[in-house]
This record gives sequence, structure tokens and C-alpha cells, in this order.
Amino acid sequence: MSDPHKNISETVTRLRGMFIRHDRYSILEAEFDRLLYQRRAAQEAGAVSEAPGLALIGGSGSGKSTALRWLFARHKALRPLSSEYEHADVASFMVPSPATLKQVGTSCLHGLGYPLRRSATAGYIWSLVQNSLCQRQVLFLHLDEAQDLHINQNRPERQAVVNTLKSLMQNADWPTGLILSGMPSLKHLLNQDAQLARRISVLHFRPLDPAIDLKSIAGLVKTYADAAQILADSSSLTPEFTRRILHAAASEFGLVVELIIGAIEDAMLRQKQVFGPQNFASAFRRRSACIDDLNPFLRSDYSSIDARLVLTNDSDLGHELMVGGQSK
Ligand SMILES: Nc1ncnc2c1ncn2[C@@H]1O[C@H](COP(=O)(O)OP(=O)(O)OP(=O)(O)O)[C@@H](O)[C@H]1O
Ligand SMILES: [Mg+2]
Repeated sequence: MSDPHKNISETVTRLRGMFIRHDRYSILEAEFDRLLYQRRAAQEAGAVSEAPGLALIGGSGSGKSTALRWLFARHKALRPLSSEYEHADVASFMVPSPATLKQVGTSCLHGLGYPLRRSATAGYIWSLVQNSLCQRQVLFLHLDEAQDLHINQNRPERQAVVNTLKSLMQNADWPTGLILSGMPSLKHLLNQDAQLARRISVLHFRPLDPAIDLKSIAGLVKTYADAAQILADSSSLTPEFTRRILHAAASEFGLVVELIIGAIEDAMLRQKQVFGPQNFASAFRRRSACIDDLNPFLRSDYSSIDARLVLTNDSDLGHELMVGGQSK
């Protein structure tokens, strides 16, 4: 007989590996394709002068990293960075911490396969990064968590970051398109310099809106239920309940997906064939370790709970997490 825990883990892993194409993703895909084909056409015509880029801005859990990972993996003709091939169309890195110009350059260089063997100045490191982008013919450099390039930096350091990014896009020998993804504070980096802002188009993964997105949340619940071969209780598909899911997920698309998968996993662990509101409550509790009073699936007046704070803080904070301190 097969181990039920193994089956559950396999189902959850499969659900986590699913990608839902949402409207915001389609806009991102169209904008990326525009940049990619523009660049390829310019290259064929021998007319590449500079490479524009894009910034994807959204709250934590909106699905930025997942969308970009999917986007790069989807293109059959888009060569990812690998040790097997010299040429790579896209190189994707996480901005390291601390995000000084030197650290960021060093980790890009390392990722591009040219680790630094001795200490060097930021200027020299970035000249090596530029050389390796050229050598490996990288069309797009993606920096995730790019808001860290701005946060905690002093003004000269911020300007140095902006100048470095601009110089990559404008390099005469090999301009590289920049893709920056990060939290809303990333816009401060872009707003700092008109020349940078002009070269980067900005897309937002905005929070979901109860006025328009409740139906698609019910659709998501059904999609994941079908994929897990389990039934969704009809009470978890009503507008009242999907509004609750939206609130518990701090209105972020990716967090909605995580809550649905958590609820399905909870029902499977209890050996149920149907999942519903109680399983969402348990999934939220397991995820945040919060007291029931702070669980949006258990309180009638849940709108006063700041779900993002509950999800990101430990439960010891208890009632203090209520918005405006209006705890019972
Ligand atoms: N389109 C999607 N289809 C299915 N699952 C998704 C999708 N987008 C996001 N998710 C899921 O939502 C969760 C959060 O997504 P992700 O990590 O990409 O968010 P993020 O915006 O990068 O957040 P952070 O700013 O905290 O890094 C992940 O578990 C991911 O698998
Ligand atoms: Mg991310």
C-alpha cells in the first residue's frame, strides 16, 4: 500500500509547480516579447544602439519572481544561462545583501561564470561584468529584489547604481536590456533619474480587487481542486467567502494560490474528499501560527485584521497586530 503522506506531498508539489496565466502575466509577456523581437530585429539590421528594459513592480507574494521565471523558461528560443553553452539570452540574478554596487557586481560576475580571484574596485568589477555580458551575448540581465539597490543606500551610492545600470543599457559594443523586479519602493530608484526612467517601461502586479476579482478566485479554487482531484465545498466558492480569501491573502495573487494549496493539503491530511472554509482556517493558522482571533477565516469582522502583518510576524504579537489596535 502506498504511503498517504508521500501521495499528499507529491500532490502538493505538483500543485505548487502549476502556473496560472493571469491577465497581468499576459501584459508582461507581451511587453517582454516586444523588447525581445525589437532587439533581434535591430541586431539583424546591425542597428543596435541601446537596449531598453522593463521593471516589474508588485507587493510581496504578488507573483513577480514566479512570472519572470516562467516567462524565461517558456520561450523555446530563449537560451538561459548555463555552464553548457557560452551564449545566453537571459541572465537572472537575485540582488545580494548588502546591495552595494560592488556586491551586486561581484555576484553578477560569479553568476556569469567569471568569479573574481582578487579584491577589486566596483568600477573594475562592473567593467568585467560588461565584458562577460558581451562575451556571452546576454540580451537581458534580470535583477530580482531590485528595490534593495535603492533602500539603505546613501545618495552618491544610489547615483552610482543608476549610472552603472544606464551604462549597461547604453554600452556601444554590447548594450544589455535590464529587467528589474521588486517591491513598490523600486519606483524610487527609477524616479531618481529621468534618463533611466525613459529607458525602462514599468509594469505593476497590482493587488487583486474585490470589485472585479472574486469570480477569478472562485475559478482558482476550482482549478486547484480539479488538479488535486478533490471537491471544493460550495460554501468556499461564494462571493462572501472568496472575499475572505482575498483579504486573508493580503490581496496578493500568489498568496491566494498558497492559501488554496494549503487548504487542499489540510483536507488531504485529514483524509477528506471535500475541502472548505475550515481547511482554509487551518491553512492560515499553520502558515502564520496566529491565534484564532487574528484568523480572517474565523472572525466575522475579519476586515479589521491586517493579514500581511499577521502573515509576516510571529504570533506573540497577538492583539497588537489589529489595525488601529482595535483588538477585542
Ligand atoms: N501565476 C502563478 N501561478 C501559480 N502560482 C503562482 C503564480 N504566481 C505566484 N504563484 C505562487 O505564489 C507564491 C508567491 O509568488 P512569488 O514568490 O513569485 O512572489 P513575489 O512577488 O516574487 O514575492 P516576493 O516579493 O516576496 O519575492 C509562490 O508560492 C508561487 O508559487
Ligand atoms: Mg520574489
